Amino acid sequence: MLRRPRRNRKSEVIRELVVETRLSKSDLIFPLFMVEGDNIKQEVASMPGIYRFSVDNLMDEISECSALGIKNVCLFPAFAEKYKDKYATISSDPNNFYLQAIAKIKKELPEVCIMTDVAMDPYSSDGHDGIVENGEILNDETLEVLGKMSLAQAQAGADIIGPSDMMDGRVEYIRELLDDEGFNKVSILSYTAKYASAFYGPFRDALDSAPKAGDKKTYQMNPANVKEALIEAELDEMEGADMLMVKPALSYLDVIKELSDTSNLPIAAYNVSGEYAMIKAADQNGWLDGEKTMLEVLLSIRRAGAKIILTYFAKEFAKLNP
Ligand code: PBG
Repeated sequence: MLRRPRRNRKSEVIRELVVETRLSKSDLIFPLFMVEGDNIKQEVASMPGIYRFSVDNLMDEISECSALGIKNVCLFPAFAEKYKDKYATISSDPNNFYLQAIAKIKKELPEVCIMTDVAMDPYSSDGHDGIVENGEILNDETLEVLGKMSLAQAQAGADIIGPSDMMDGRVEYIRELLDDEGFNKVSILSYTAKYASAFYGPFRDALDSAPKAGDKKTYQMNPANVKEALIEAELDEMEGADMLMVKPALSYLDVIKELSDTSNLPIAAYNVSGEYAMIKAADQNGWLDGEKTMLEVLLSIRRAGAKIILTYFAKEFAKLNP
């Protein structure tokens, strides 16, 4: 036999020598959930090891992550029902606890990169990412709300704005507004190909943000489509996005690959709440090894072409890779 591929697998040191994909802590963004109040740390029932924090406890969590080498966080607020209305008005009020927290973190932990979420759902009495009128999600009217929200987040100190709403034209709208207001250094990581997915279930529990009526299929993408993702990517590039995201990750590795082959922008993938919950549930039942599965999953997302991974496993990964 002239060719024996097993020679390149014969020892740990040789396997490391020929390894094609590496994952590092600096590739990861850790999503964190926040609530208003003091001294709160509530575990999300469907996401073992993931909590909703009040700002005081969140500061401790973020400094711990930073010390472990996780320097990028993405913050999501859970607003009480009493603050929500049709137009997500509270989302751009500089006194809301989310914007206050961003400012505080930026001041006390300036080395940490803060990504924020732009979409109406956590603030909307309808639980949709846009304005709802007669059961329809209005596109252009929503842009104004998203713009105000983005600007308020930039003013609070956000480093990266993450529009997750899937309205048409929002990247350009936000980019121009930020530039006009003097925030040309604030980045946009666009949720470019965000699919209408059942894997977001645990996240909506964490934020109490599920739609009150209907689903998100008129704005989030059909899981059957990949060419459509290329159209979204082309538009986001033209509209000034700095990074493109595919979400969820695991059922969409082909979409990640397609975008990374066709775009020169860094590609991100969101290893979403349901993907996290499945591994944790199987691990807790003793049905598979949670740690090994996590490492395999993260590596696969990286191998498919994602440079950046948003994952609830970020802190756990950092602990295993000091
Ligand atoms: C909402 C938003 C969602 C997620 C991130 N931003 C849920 C949704 O679109 O309903 C999901 C993240 C996850 O499941 O981990 N704009």
